[in-house]
Amino acid sequence: MEKTLNPKKKGMLITFEGGEGSGKSTQIQILYDALKREGRSVFLTREPGGTKLGEKIRDVLLDRKNASITPLCETLLYMASRAQIVEEIIRPELEKGKIVLCDRWLDATVAYQGYGAGVNVKWIEQVGKMTTGFVRPTMSLFFDLPVADGLGRLRGKRALDRMEKKSVYFHQKVRNGFLAIARREPGRFRRIPLQESDTIDQVHAKVMNILRDIL
Ligand code: TMP
Repeated sequence: MEKTLNPKKKGMLITFEGGEGSGKSTQIQILYDALKREGRSVFLTREPGGTKLGEKIRDVLLDRKNASITPLCETLLYMASRAQIVEEIIRPELEKGKIVLCDRWLDATVAYQGYGAGVNVKWIEQVGKMTTGFVRPTMSLFFDLPVADGLGRLRGKRALDRMEKKSVYFHQKVRNGFLAIARREPGRFRRIPLQESDTIDQVHAKVMNILRDIL
């Protein structure tokens, strides 16, 4: 039988955000493995992507050949992938009582397309409410590594995708967007300050420290 630490708790959504090369995808996998080992009922997914259709949209969005995509078109494609994953995966998993871990969420659209690319943030939030069907994360973690360090980690490893290739200035604006969300919603959107020298285990300990109360 599945062990549940707190059987009264219903499903909850926890999302991970951060700049390029911040290590959030490594950390979400480590958290997933840790919760699984504890016998928790947990589901890991990502967006854009997470569904067959969403992964196709992801390919379009990250393809360097699509450099001419407009900010509005880009915004709507991220929203389209999200609309699909919410109804196909996230809501059903939450209804089963699972802890759903999602690598990125609507906050990324606010930060990247809103603060980064200049799309109206209020409009993004409105469309976002419809797109997410009012599903809201219980908690969101923002992995805040200095922009130059994050981009530096990626360089030389592999060909950068369309978003990673954008200027340092763009990525600074994205970070400002995440910081603004953290100021507006300090209870939900929790900043984890990171340094280049932090080990994977040290960052995981910070994650567990923040999530302990809700888990
Ligand atoms: P990833 O880095 O989490 O794999 O996400 C893929 C890229 O898409 C990353 O550069 C962030 C970007 N992104 C947006 O620009 N807007 C969004 O709404 C989402 C979910 C991701």
